Amino acid sequence: MTDSPEDLFEAAFAVREMAYVPYSHYGVGAALRAASGRIYSGCNVENAAYPVGTCAEAGAIAAMVAGGDRDLVEIAVVAEGGALVTPCGGCRQRIVEFGGPKAAVWAGDLRGRRRRITAEDLLPLAFGPKSMAPDTGEQEPD
Ligand code: THU
Repeated sequence: MTDSPEDLFEAAFAVREMAYVPYSHYGVGAALRAASGRIYSGCNVENAAYPVGTCAEAGAIAAMVAGGDRDLVEIAVVAEGGALVTPCGGCRQRIVEFGGPKAAVWAGDLRGRRRRITAEDLLPLAFGPKSMAPDTGEQEPD
């Protein structure tokens, strides 16, 4: 297994400090590496209208797209809680959109736990851009 990407974890822990979480009190930080080598980060931003809140991963991916990158290589997600944080269902879909099935998703916490998961393990048989591509008769789902 690849060594855990401490530069991404460092960025994710730093941006987690900025999380706006007056409702859940559960701060999350995410930092991703794009194919260009650039790192983008984001934190969760909640709202009094609860469903309008956005996840840390969504913020990091939006920053990546705004920065001109489209290819997500790996992403680290950090929080503090009983079980290691893993991306919610919607964010799994967001990660697959830009990272494809092989993207590495790293989960971590402040006490040093680290876990690597692939996007396809988090979201098997994902619907994705390939699903809407022209039919070649040979395509398998991600
Ligand atoms: N949250 C994230 O930002 N990312 C995750 O991977 C899981 C959940 C946020 C959403 C909400 O602000 C808080 O954590 C509690 O669900």
